[in-house]
Amino acid sequence: MHCTDLTSSNLSSEGAASSLMKAGSSKANIARSENSVYQVGTPLARARATMADPSPPSREILSLSDLETIASRKLPRPVWEFFSSGATTQVTVKENSSAFSKYRIIPRVLRDVSALDTTISMFGEKLSFPLCVSPAGIQAMAHRDGELATSRACARVGVNMGVSSYATYSVEEIVAAGRSVGSINHAIQLYSMNDRLKEEAIIQRAENAGCKAILLTADSPVLGVRWNETRNGFIPPVGLGYPMLDRTSDDIQAQSHGDGFAAFNSSSHCWETEIPWLRERTRMEIWIKGVLCPEDVEMAIEYGCDGVIVSNHGGRQLDETPATVDVLAACAAAAKGRIRVHVDGGVRSGNDIFKALALGAECCWVGRPVLWGLAYDGERGVQLMLEILKGEFARCMQLAGCRSISDISPSSLGIFRADGPLARL
Ligand SMILES: Cc1cc2nc3c(=O)[nH]c(=O)nc-3n(C[C@H](O)[C@H](O)[C@H](O)COP(=O)(O)O)c2cc1C
Repeated sequence: MHCTDLTSSNLSSEGAASSLMKAGSSKANIARSENSVYQVGTPLARARATMADPSPPSREILSLSDLETIASRKLPRPVWEFFSSGATTQVTVKENSSAFSKYRIIPRVLRDVSALDTTISMFGEKLSFPLCVSPAGIQAMAHRDGELATSRACARVGVNMGVSSYATYSVEEIVAAGRSVGSINHAIQLYSMNDRLKEEAIIQRAENAGCKAILLTADSPVLGVRWNETRNGFIPPVGLGYPMLDRTSDDIQAQSHGDGFAAFNSSSHCWETEIPWLRERTRMEIWIKGVLCPEDVEMAIEYGCDGVIVSNHGGRQLDETPATVDVLAACAAAAKGRIRVHVDGGVRSGNDIFKALALGAECCWVGRPVLWGLAYDGERGVQLMLEILKGEFARCMQLAGCRSISDISPSSLGIFRADGPLARL
């Protein structure tokens, strides 16, 4: 265990509360976290209090947006803002989601969709539908079981998981947690580090633990500017460590999140040095996370990488980069099947997954929805989130007349243009 008990109901523990107070949050915000969501004076809580037989969670939580609302009420303000915010003016974080609504699904009718196949393969094994969980750090702030709960939930639903270098549990524990309940593969997220020996140790530990790929985060030569972290003086609660980075709770408490990042991360990273260096040290696949243009897809191919994730880090790095869904088609076209193309950023529904596949992605990844699920109900909350997406995606495929993933194509989509009716892609 690398953390104290930090679930929503326990965030009031002295350590967490004092740390968050130190981090600049108000007493009112701390008090919010002392209540379970149903005790807060929300309309939902009041309605629930009048019910003799409360509805099961599945009736309350019908969408990822429902989960987001509950998480926003349940988490202390500085934690909520750390999870949900993007960089500076929030343009990219907002557009990542809203850009999906420019696209419309064009169904084909009178097709037999009674036998549906939503599976794809990754690392030689099947995923139950085209989704993976993006590496997102410090998950024990959302629920004490953090990444262990996420790993188990992914295994139960049949999707793969990215493990952040900022995980609050070790990669060995995270992989073991998932495999204890089902079939799952993991990929380790890696930053280019000043201390190459430490970076090498992370790679070896991940490979020995059974990870199948490195996700080299390419969009972070320096940390994005996040006003919420500065305003809140954000520091994770006392008791949490980053075991993959060899950082204890005491280390973390001693500096700001931004200073901690700057201390280990190398801003001199480049294709010529990183990729050959990694190739010499691992048999794991190498994926580049954070690609936003066809030119960098070409670079990844040239350097023999196995995949790219079209990503802008959920809008947390450079603000005013394009929504990932809007650059996806160009990136997929450049790949011409020579490298795997996945995407993350703003995916919030099964329809979004369908649209991303129609635009050329093989698979989508989600970041924040995992944190919402954790905040709601730990492992069960993440499982619920994944099952909602899976159910929505399956229903979308059937209603669009697609029996299998290969039926989803650019002809399944239209796009709004300013100058006329819906245009075909
Ligand atoms: C709280 C938080 C922490 C994150 N930590 C990391 C990280 O340590 N490394 C990384 O490459 N990406 C990190 N990401 C970015 C995610 O991997 C992913 O690209 C992004 O969340 C996808 O967008 P979405 O949240 O809209 O689904 C983080 C995202 C969030 C929200």
